[in-house]
Amino acid sequence: STDKGEKKYILAIDQGTTSTRAIVFDHAGQIVATGQKEHEQIFPKAGWVEHDPIEIWKNLRSVVAEAMSAAEINRHALAAVGITNQRETAVVWDKTTGEPVYNAIVWQDTRTQKICDRLAGDEGAEKYKERVGLPLATYFSGPKIAWILENVEGAKEKAEAGDLLFGNTDSWLVWNMTGGVEGGVHVTDVTNASRTMLMNIDTLDWNEDIAKDMGIPMSMLPEIKSSSEVYGHGRKNGLLIDTPIAGILGDQQAATFGQACFEVGMAKNTYGTGNFMLINTGEELVHSENGLLTTVAYKIGDSKPIYALEGSVAVTGSLVQWVRDNLGLITDAPEIEELAKKVDDNGGCYIVPAFSGLFAPHWKSDARGAIVGLTRYITKNHIARAALESTAFQSREVLDAMNADSGVELTELKVDGGMVKNETLMQFQADILGVPVVRPKVIETTALGAAYAAGIAVGFWDGEQDVIDNWAEDKRWEPQMDEETRARYMRLWKKAIERTLDWVD
Ligand code: G3P
Repeated sequence: STDKGEKKYILAIDQGTTSTRAIVFDHAGQIVATGQKEHEQIFPKAGWVEHDPIEIWKNLRSVVAEAMSAAEINRHALAAVGITNQRETAVVWDKTTGEPVYNAIVWQDTRTQKICDRLAGDEGAEKYKERVGLPLATYFSGPKIAWILENVEGAKEKAEAGDLLFGNTDSWLVWNMTGGVEGGVHVTDVTNASRTMLMNIDTLDWNEDIAKDMGIPMSMLPEIKSSSEVYGHGRKNGLLIDTPIAGILGDQQAATFGQACFEVGMAKNTYGTGNFMLINTGEELVHSENGLLTTVAYKIGDSKPIYALEGSVAVTGSLVQWVRDNLGLITDAPEIEELAKKVDDNGGCYIVPAFSGLFAPHWKSDARGAIVGLTRYITKNHIARAALESTAFQSREVLDAMNADSGVELTELKVDGGMVKNETLMQFQADILGVPVVRPKVIETTALGAAYAAGIAVGFWDGEQDVIDNWAEDKRWEPQMDEETRARYMRLWKKAIERTLDWVD
């Protein structure tokens, strides 16, 4: 184990949609040890998705202990901790007791449809877009907070009395790590704040008018900080006593950072429960004409914020989980590739997993999923293949939107996340995009990005150049499909999309 005072490592915490992970990184950006624990996905009704924030906090403590013990180190070996998290998911808790007043409402949850319609009024879904970079949609945190205040007994009064706090899971965990009811620090970073619908995308301050429209008292909102600075230290009754917590990035922004997408026009696509493609637009704030979101990519300490355009796709990896858990066609996720490989193509079958409506580039909250093109010929192998292919088609639609918004064609795409181990999918993705797909050696770029943000803040790393130096290519897939076949696939995919629209009664 490491001597006291010799700070050799950074700990990254990745609080994702399905699990919480702790990863110890060394100075070369290599993984030393990992701890991981899944938490329960709670589906109380169709379209509702919740997490238990207390379970997530407990899991964090256990995965940190697991990773530290596997790395054979203690907190004295850590230069800093960085946090990355599922974005938008809203936790509201009582600062006097530390108890959440309701389960966390997850980003995939569609219950706020009516609240969004009400807020849109005559002005429509683009009402706040100029100010916050986002269309009104069930995806974002603000309407989720409003739902809790309107539906949980006593919540509104407590919020108005100043007792309730809101945060994405980054804020919830930092508050607990830094002592909770005994002086926990209530902060978030610009990237998380940019997903709430409550932050001015140009000035990076909370927008009081929008908060008022949603009935959210300003006292609930965390202080907005940069993505790389010391926010506080671990405390007794918290976690990792005296260790600086020095980086916060929303998970997709963290992956962008970990993939070293520092130049304008560089893009990455992360394959997690959903797919999220971000393209760096530099210091320029670009408003999309094609269904993308304007978001903050990162802000390092006092430097200027760097912006991105984002194409968010709600359901990709979680469709594989659905095929496993709800259909029972496979027993573990990687098995889907074995089934898909047994057939040469999808046999005419398409799956549009509009489980949370459709996100980018459509933004149709009232769409619902469909399996189309069924004939007696279709087997479970075709279904498996169609499930995988839907991930590639959805990413192609987002790439088209990016090319249209930027006016330049992307020449290659960096990928990361769990599903990029699936070689069948990666080849099909390159085929459908018509550009090479590039996978780095470290595919845990989300955690890596958070580690870098924290490490840069405390001088463990000097800056972006270290990230660039440590990035290494593992594998590249070249497109092999002819243009005619590709066009045919996309034509049928778009027809399948049409079948899912306007479904909710
Ligand atoms: O916007 C939601 C996103 O941050 C969730 O990412 O990786 O947990 O699916 P992931």
